[in-house]
Amino acid sequence: MQNDIALFTELCDELFKLEADKPVAEPIPTSKLYSRLDLSLNTEGVIDEDLKSTLKQIIKSTPKTASKSFFNQLFGGRVDKATLGDLLAVMLNNSMYTYKVAGPQVGIEKQVLKEIASLAGYAEESDGTFAPGGSMSNMMALIMARDAKNDTIRVEGLSSKMTLYTSATSHYSISKNAALTGIGRSQVRLVSTNEKGEMLVEHLDELIKKDISNSYQPFFVNATAGTTVLGAFDDITAISKVCKKHKLWLHVDGAYCGSVIFSKMYKHLIKGLEFSDSFSVNAHKMLGTPLSCSIIITQHKAQLHQSFSNEADYLYQTDSDDFNLGKTSLQCGRRNDALKIWTLWKSIGTKGLEKIVDKQFEMAQIARDYITNNKDYELYSFNDSISVCFNYKGIPANELCTALYENSELMVGFGKFSNNEFVRMVTVNSLLEREDIYNFFETLEAFVSEKMLKTITS
Ligand SMILES: Cc1ncc(COP(=O)(O)O)c(C=O)c1O
Repeated sequence: MQNDIALFTELCDELFKLEADKPVAEPIPTSKLYSRLDLSLNTEGVIDEDLKSTLKQIIKSTPKTASKSFFNQLFGGRVDKATLGDLLAVMLNNSMYTYKVAGPQVGIEKQVLKEIASLAGYAEESDGTFAPGGSMSNMMALIMARDAKNDTIRVEGLSSKMTLYTSATSHYSISKNAALTGIGRSQVRLVSTNEKGEMLVEHLDELIKKDISNSYQPFFVNATAGTTVLGAFDDITAISKVCKKHKLWLHVDGAYCGSVIFSKMYKHLIKGLEFSDSFSVNAHKMLGTPLSCSIIITQHKAQLHQSFSNEADYLYQTDSDDFNLGKTSLQCGRRNDALKIWTLWKSIGTKGLEKIVDKQFEMAQIARDYITNNKDYELYSFNDSISVCFNYKGIPANELCTALYENSELMVGFGKFSNNEFVRMVTVNSLLEREDIYNFFETLEAFVSEKMLKTITS
């Protein structure tokens, strides 16, 4: 193993150099992938030197998500102590289902969940778990809501038409989960939004009333804290009142921006969170831990246990359910996703996490100021969002983003809202500084004037 640790360090050095010198890897067209790189698997193994050189080639061509030219998705950068924690988790290789097998790692997971529940304003008797991602956290919330409404479904299956509600700008996992859980995509009601992409609460109430009068059984409302494209925050307090009136489970999907719970300045965006039944947050998005680190908490500890526990004599042989985390998990064997957020939190404190969150809003504001001060740009997103959406010189966003990627200039994606398509630049990498934001725009502008406009005019 020592030799492989040395090789790992050498490969990391190579990666750091590439991230600095060539932050956007030259993309390999899919048609050429298997001829350009040796990805083959053969009967005989290769010698270490060959493996090393193949790994170096693969690293060279792999997109550099930790570089300062990566603005493409809702994660990015590399936060050192969180990475250290994840590397340690790999070396320790525990499975989080029992205390017998994971020992103090169980205590670490429980501590993180307890602190997050406390920041969310949840009752003392709350609980939670780590899911394989935000989509799966949302699915766990949906399952708890379904079972809370009708506890026979786990045994008998669905027998009535149950309906759920989420805004038209919410994440696709809500509809996908409705399909996966047997609720059905047709039972998903998409609530309209205002011009900022925030759920229209009167429309939510109308849809629920209509379903009740048509003998459907409403059971679940999903509010979003940071929508995927615009980064909008639904009004949790107003939505919670509607949920209370109709006795519906309220889940807050904070996969993208739920980490505002750490910020005094931005916590107001999730005002009313304490009235929700469950809340999910991805530390691998705003907090910058390695993928994946998705947390779901609920104020209904008993429901979490009821929906996800299963007896297994061969597994649960010591200790109580409280320390055998498989009893509240979607999975059986489960990797340790808690250690990376704990290592980060332990090393920089809650104040350090607050700084990470605040920095992203500051960078987004710098980007918005740049855009609004430059007449070649049109801004489509709003304040208090770390998604900065814009168009430049009227160039179609999909063409611009794809050309920037194919020419190894920048990694940035595009999004759509209300018949507009625009570039979506995300300032989720907390290592970004003011110069990196300016560098993004300078690179884009130079590319357009030197390459794109020339191609268009020639
Ligand atoms: C609002 C929201 N919810 C859920 C998800 C899904 O999270 P994951 O990619 O971890 O499954 C995303 C992903 O971008 C998201 O933006």
